[in-house]
Amino acid sequence: MEISRINRGWVMRSHDHVSQAEFNSAITSIKSGGGGSVRWFVCEPSADEQRFATSHGLTLDAPLLHMRCDLPLAPEHEVPKGFATRSFRPGIDDEEWLAVNARAFSGHPEQGNWTRDVLTARLAEPWFDASGFLIHEIEGRIAGYCWTKTHRTIPPSGEIYVIGVDPAHHGKGLGRALTIAGFARLASLGLRNGMLYVAGDNSAAIALYESLGMRVVHRDEVFVGDVRAK
Ligand SMILES: CC(C)(COP(=O)(O)OP(=O)(O)OC[C@H]1O[C@@H](n2cnc3c(N)ncnc32)[C@H](O)[C@@H]1OP(=O)(O)O)[C@@H](O)C(=O)NCCC(=O)NCCS
Repeated sequence: MEISRINRGWVMRSHDHVSQAEFNSAITSIKSGGGGSVRWFVCEPSADEQRFATSHGLTLDAPLLHMRCDLPLAPEHEVPKGFATRSFRPGIDDEEWLAVNARAFSGHPEQGNWTRDVLTARLAEPWFDASGFLIHEIEGRIAGYCWTKTHRTIPPSGEIYVIGVDPAHHGKGLGRALTIAGFARLASLGLRNGMLYVAGDNSAAIALYESLGMRVVHRDEVFVGDVRAK
């Protein structure tokens, strides 16, 4: 079982089925580390694993879907004429972006609750590249964004890491244009594999991605809850 700290909480990932002892050991480590909110990602949990989760107060949340596509996208998926983006400006755009991100993800606390510290930590990651963090403005204000990330896997892949549109501008085609712009940028770097993760209850985003030719390649169930410090 892998355990990592993500933002202010913890993530547990198990690629194979885990035993009660492995699960308990992970929970003990989290308690010793100060406790907090926990998300456990597990593929096709067994009845035993569901019981381990329940016994520690974790409950089933929406699954996490891994979606993929070939890059470049099919020719009909073009960035609309006149649709412009610019790069994120660290130190200048931070507060405005955090506010738009919070509004866009008001229903998804683990993304919507990003603080300045979380953003600063992400901007300091070795993979961060401001030119891949696309911002779309309307009348000088951030209306939406598409933050891309490249992975030096074999073969390499390009991810839409976070994408959001200010709810004031939903339903106007910005999400589609930003997704296409993000994948076009990744394709321009020579990447042939596009991917992203999306919550299985995010029907608007899933409909958008499927309409661009993306398909679900993996699904993890997600158990969530709070674990108290020891
Ligand atoms: C997902 C999101 C980016 C879509 O942005 P948007 O600008 O409103 O979307 P668009 O106007 O470009 O619509 C594109 C497609 O999305 C889908 N869609 C958008 N809103 C929808 C809704 N309320 N219900 C179902 N499908 C919807 C449709 O397939 C739509 O295509 P269509 O107009 O041809 O039917 C936006 O809802 C958002 O910011 N959500 C919160 C953040 C988020 O969930 N990000 C994705 C995380 S992986």
